[in-house]
Amino acid sequence: MSTSYVIDAVRTPRGRGKAGKGALSGVHPQELVAQLLNRLQQRGGFEPKRVDDVILGIVSQVGEQGANLARNAVLAAGWPNEVPGVSLNRFCASGLQAVHFGAMGVASGAMDLVVAGGVESMSRVPMGADGGGTDGGNVRLRERVFQVPQGISADLIATLEGFTREEIDGVALRSQANAARAIEEGRFAKSLVPVVDPNTGTLLLERDEFPRPDTTAAGLAALNPSFVSFGEAVVGPNGETLDGIALAAYPQAGAIRHVHTAGNSSGIVDGAGAVLLASERYVREGGVKPRAKIRAMTTVGTEPLLMLTGPAPASEKALRIAGMTARDIDLWEINEAFAAVVLQTTRALGIDAERVNVNGGAIALGHPLGATGAMLLGTALDELERRDAQTALVTMCVGGGQGIATILERI
Ligand SMILES: CC(C)(COP(=O)(O)OP(=O)(O)OC[C@H]1O[C@@H](n2cnc3c(N)ncnc32)[C@H](O)[C@@H]1OP(=O)(O)O)[C@@H](O)C(=O)NCCC(=O)NCCS
Repeated sequence: MSTSYVIDAVRTPRGRGKAGKGALSGVHPQELVAQLLNRLQQRGGFEPKRVDDVILGIVSQVGEQGANLARNAVLAAGWPNEVPGVSLNRFCASGLQAVHFGAMGVASGAMDLVVAGGVESMSRVPMGADGGGTDGGNVRLRERVFQVPQGISADLIATLEGFTREEIDGVALRSQANAARAIEEGRFAKSLVPVVDPNTGTLLLERDEFPRPDTTAAGLAALNPSFVSFGEAVVGPNGETLDGIALAAYPQAGAIRHVHTAGNSSGIVDGAGAVLLASERYVREGGVKPRAKIRAMTTVGTEPLLMLTGPAPASEKALRIAGMTARDIDLWEINEAFAAVVLQTTRALGIDAERVNVNGGAIALGHPLGATGAMLLGTALDELERRDAQTALVTMCVGGGQGIATILERI
């Protein structure tokens, strides 16, 4: 395979994902993407008809996010009819998976120029709106493998790893502090595309809306755990609760300590991200200066009830493929799905916590499911350039017990 180049990356700000309240909650998700496509084109000056495909990750593909959003976003952007679009779902890693498929496409020689990214308007198409639950309602599968909701998995991981509520809240405090500093210093400015009202052109949002820079340890400690009643919910014919099912699989946990709250879990938000990828041929012939290349990309499967422990094995696999060690990575983006995921991954890989999520993460900024992977890649790239550093590894936990990792290297 030849090289896949990253030419550019853009994202919308993340708006609060509350219907009628968040600044982006009045915007159709196709329009969020359309605005990014047009900005990418303006920044890069490429001819849209040269784009071989627009690949987008979207988790809840129903209603406004159904009907192959990627193709409709191409049309909404006013791009030529010749540009196709495809929508995919790898749960929370969808946006990064889109980048992987795009990178594979340009590296294989099948394509020259690809836009890859994702979108999720969680205010307009709420999490779970596709009605599939965790297993599509397949009772036979459920008897074999019971996939508890992610919040229960996160609390189970914290219990098994012995993370205290203080340690868990510490991740949230740091996420908020790092995000606040990044916003204050304009570190996100390079990639941010302000969103305007598609009808009037009026500015709707130009900076992330979800962070709470005034967050304190005491404020976090006062929040009630979010997944206690989930854990107590009876789901089995013999009175089995979700906590009980998790404990039957992991009896060594003793009892599940519910430590995740609204303050230390990823936020529900709206947003979109897009990355422009190009082949060696396009770069050579077009005289384009790439910003980075994809050095390795991996996905793995892990135990589906614990579900969220995929980032460490996915990262190890990517490092192995790249012929690198964890010490070679300057910056880590470990998606803050839940605080325990960041702690568990950092511990399992034995990496320096100071290199992890240096500009905050989904706890402070929010996690627009299908978009986050593409957003993290752009954030990592901007920060590598700002520090004049070389390599970043982006990794995420994924529903169904999966993990994804991408190693990005500056040219
Ligand atoms: C955890 C979760 C259930 C909380 O939902 P919620 O209760 O609606 O959370 P909100 O963000 O509205 O916050 C609720 C309240 O907590 C408090 N709060 C939240 N963050 C806080 C902070 N940093 N400091 C102090 N208080 C805080 C506030 O009082 C807030 O209410 P307000 O917005 O009216 O001020 C939800 O965020 C969630 O499901 N997250 C995970 C998403 C997920 O599973 N993604 C896919 C897998 S990763």
